Amino acid sequence: MKREERFVERLSRHHDELRWLYMELYDNGDMFAELCERMREFAVNRDADLVKMDGEREQDPKWFRGNDMLGMMLYIDNFAGNLKGVKAKLPYLSSCNVNCIHLMPFLESPKGRSDGGYAVADFRRIQPELGTMGDLKDLARACHKKGINLCMDFVMNHTSEDHAWAKKAREGDGEYMSRYFFYDNPSIPQEYDRTVPQVFPTTAPGNFTYLDKMGYYVMTTFYPYQWDLNYRNPRVFNEMMYNFLYLANQGMDIIRIDAVPYIWKELGTQCRNLPQVHTIVRMMRMICEIVCPSVLLLGEVVMEPEKVVPYFGTVEKPECHMLYNVTTMATTWHSVATRDVRLLKKQMDIVNGLPKDYLFLNYLRCHDDIGWGLDYATLEGYGMHEVEHKRFLNAYFTGKHAGSVSRGELYNDDPVTQDARFCGTTASMCGVERALSEQDETALSAAITQDLMLHAYMLTQSGIPMLYSGDEVGQLNDPSYKEDPAKREDSRYLHRGRFQWDLAAKHTEKGTLQERVFSGLARLEQIRKSREVFQSDAAVYTYDVKDNAILCILRENDKERFIGIFNFSDEAKTAWMEEPGTYENLITGDQVELKNPVIQGHDFVWVSKKK
Ligand code: GLC
Repeated sequence: MKREERFVERLSRHHDELRWLYMELYDNGDMFAELCERMREFAVNRDADLVKMDGEREQDPKWFRGNDMLGMMLYIDNFAGNLKGVKAKLPYLSSCNVNCIHLMPFLESPKGRSDGGYAVADFRRIQPELGTMGDLKDLARACHKKGINLCMDFVMNHTSEDHAWAKKAREGDGEYMSRYFFYDNPSIPQEYDRTVPQVFPTTAPGNFTYLDKMGYYVMTTFYPYQWDLNYRNPRVFNEMMYNFLYLANQGMDIIRIDAVPYIWKELGTQCRNLPQVHTIVRMMRMICEIVCPSVLLLGEVVMEPEKVVPYFGTVEKPECHMLYNVTTMATTWHSVATRDVRLLKKQMDIVNGLPKDYLFLNYLRCHDDIGWGLDYATLEGYGMHEVEHKRFLNAYFTGKHAGSVSRGELYNDDPVTQDARFCGTTASMCGVERALSEQDETALSAAITQDLMLHAYMLTQSGIPMLYSGDEVGQLNDPSYKEDPAKREDSRYLHRGRFQWDLAAKHTEKGTLQERVFSGLARLEQIRKSREVFQSDAAVYTYDVKDNAILCILRENDKERFIGIFNFSDEAKTAWMEEPGTYENLITGDQVELKNPVIQGHDFVWVSKKK
């Protein structure tokens, strides 16, 4: 079939619904016609290799749901200097079993006002020191040859104040001012502030910024230099979709839609998760399926579970292909600090009860802070009260609590609400940093055991596991950001340090920290991808083993029964359980019986039995 015909066929599948939603939001037939025409151009101009992939993936819609998927997120400069450097390091990434790379923001963004690249000044230009669009395309092609998928961010809620639109708006050009939220007096901003919570209460208080010279207030939900786009304006939606398709056509496999719950604003609301957001995400999904059906949408929805799940849409009207398993991630660290898995078990039961079509991205930590979005109603029942509990967790992870081995820093410590989130690499949170500084070999072994246990537990979950670059070799916090005036105020840079290739190279030297973490993890990844029981469609449930420190997870299909037992305490514990027959310990290869097994402090077992 010719490209034009294929486009017409794909458009016809979605045209009525797309038009309906577009008109409901914008009531503008001319702009809709323009959108369709530009979609056609992007579709026919897609590179031949991508067109081929579109066709193949359309035939195999489950292509991204396999147990072999393993992601890693990294900042290009920290990892390999520039895009060409990343290409040169693909063999290392393959040796980590990684087949999906999330390149953290790399589009043009002003130095010192970039929010880690999340303030985009030009959606079609790459930060010059990282390379060119040609380099990106080249990297995508090299990745595809090695069976690696590439993911990038689409920061759609806002632009940098240096974006061409923002510059024209600042000059008073009404056409461009209407692409943002401008007010000539504080009354409406004040009204918004009554209902809209703050994202960065300490580092960027308020939701508006006063532009002195201009005498206007502009909406800035995040940093003052990130101006919120006004999606009530169809020109904003259309142009942003053209940017989206332009980036997709560089060879992206996954596009992470950043901060998506925030994109629609309505006075008198919290300006999060409004129905119009779902209309827009649904339209994006259809636009993808029409122009570039091999591209997946990953929604960044850092919200409580009942707000997250609607971003999958419905079976007939899907929205995102994948979402972050954020509450599970935060609950994991709560369990580490409390050595109590009751809430984690409950959280896992909720996720396991969701339709198998929902695909989550599981992670222990990412480039952002860890916020304490826990189920406090349930915690109350355990005698843990929100304010004191958050204080305990923060004291624990910053190493201030007796018995804590973690080394982390607070993030957005809010003097008003006394609320705070925290930052740290996985290894530093597990005690590796402390053990090394105190030259305590026993503590180091315990820390590595815990680090691997947490990874094993993450890999036991259904969905796509996502590592943060450096965690595979136990990389520590990097406090050097404190010397950089552009980063000093933002403690998230603590766990976004430069990848230390000299230390990482030790992953081949037997007995080093790097080797112990790397090979331990590699073993788990190999097991995961070689057994169908880790497929997303397996039945998964938790098992009560009568000890609050032990989490037990079962995975089952018609051929195999897998059990993972994870000890969140630092002491040896018994999992009170009895399973008939013998199981194979997947790590040691031993045949074992599951009769009240004892699990060493912070350790785990992975066992399985063929049916
Ligand atoms: C997302 C990013 C975060 C950024 C924010 C604003 O939450 O993960 O790093 O600060 O969006 O763009």
